[in-house]
Amino acid sequence: MSIRSKRKDEHIKLAEKFYSQKKINSFDEMHIIRPALPEASVSKTILRTKMFGKDLAAPFFINAMTGGSQKAYAINQSLGKIASKTQIALALGSASILIKEHDQLDSFIVAREENPEGVIIANVNAATSANDAQKIVSELKADALQIHLNAVQEIAMPEGERKFYWLDNLRKLRQQITVPLVIKEVGFGLDRATIHLLKNEGFSLFDIAGSGGTNFAQIENARNQSDLSYLETVGLPTVISAIMAKKEKVDFIVSGGIRNPLDVLKALCLGGKYVGIANTFLQVLIKNDADTLLQMILNWQKELAGLLAIYGQTDLQTVSSIPKYYDLQLQNWLQQL
Ligand SMILES: Cc1cc2nc3c(=O)[nH]c(=O)nc-3n(C[C@H](O)[C@H](O)[C@H](O)COP(=O)(O)O)c2cc1C
Repeated sequence: MSIRSKRKDEHIKLAEKFYSQKKINSFDEMHIIRPALPEASVSKTILRTKMFGKDLAAPFFINAMTGGSQKAYAINQSLGKIASKTQIALALGSASILIKEHDQLDSFIVAREENPEGVIIANVNAATSANDAQKIVSELKADALQIHLNAVQEIAMPEGERKFYWLDNLRKLRQQITVPLVIKEVGFGLDRATIHLLKNEGFSLFDIAGSGGTNFAQIENARNQSDLSYLETVGLPTVISAIMAKKEKVDFIVSGGIRNPLDVLKALCLGGKYVGIANTFLQVLIKNDADTLLQMILNWQKELAGLLAIYGQTDLQTVSSIPKYYDLQLQNWLQQL
């Protein structure tokens, strides 16, 4: 097995090791107010939305995780099937591995084979050349391309990147890639200045991927000889990062630490157009099987429709008008930013 494939498998193993269903995060410090008189009924059709021109059953999706090993093949096969049956979008893990190891293509393409009509989002690192990225988009028949900004992860990785000049390459990607682009963090949160800068460069969709869920400093630290555990605290919490994105008036995806349908609703309240879920779904798949995750996603769709009703919502477009308030610590952060 190549070093890259081994790394992919280690990420899956360590994401499992460090996962905790009970982990507290910024969504616990955010509260939304429910009308005692909702004047609404439960309807799954309210959840329906469009992403990159295709119809979807719900605004939440499976975020980027894997590809590039045998284990990843099996996971992407299951995720492709589940995304197809539940009509939600699926982002694949970084396909930058294909530039050096093209024989790993099957482990990505399998998701497209299982979900020929649905939304599949490819993912690359910010140093991937426009030619390579376009080839990946074509090979995966991707509807969009996520470009991940993962400086903290790289610095924590013994074999990671040490040069973080990505802007010029991002400009080239923006000019040459033929599908919509998503600028994405990997769990440390996009900051307002970066969103502002990239908005001015013409990028229009951001996945803020804040902290509170999967922590790649923790995962990489476990693969490391030296102790870099202090990096585990450097992330920008998801709720704060989402509020920053909203202030920049860009379209954005809220992700990072989504644990249940109430978190999804809160993410939509923050103004997220879509909501991404990675490890919460992966753990259900790994610990059980594809049918269990399939059922869970169908349940989330039902439960989210139920939540929308008790919060008096009849249209996804107006969810961000639900009144909200924040606990003191979060409020304090927000006042300073
Ligand atoms: C096992 C695993 C592998 C991941 N690989 C990638 C990746 O290749 N590219 C990427 O942009 N994000 C990757 N991520 C990050 C997720 O897409 C997401 O941004 C992050 O995990 C926060 O979401 P969560 O708290 O719902 O897990 C990975 C996450 C996990 C759990």
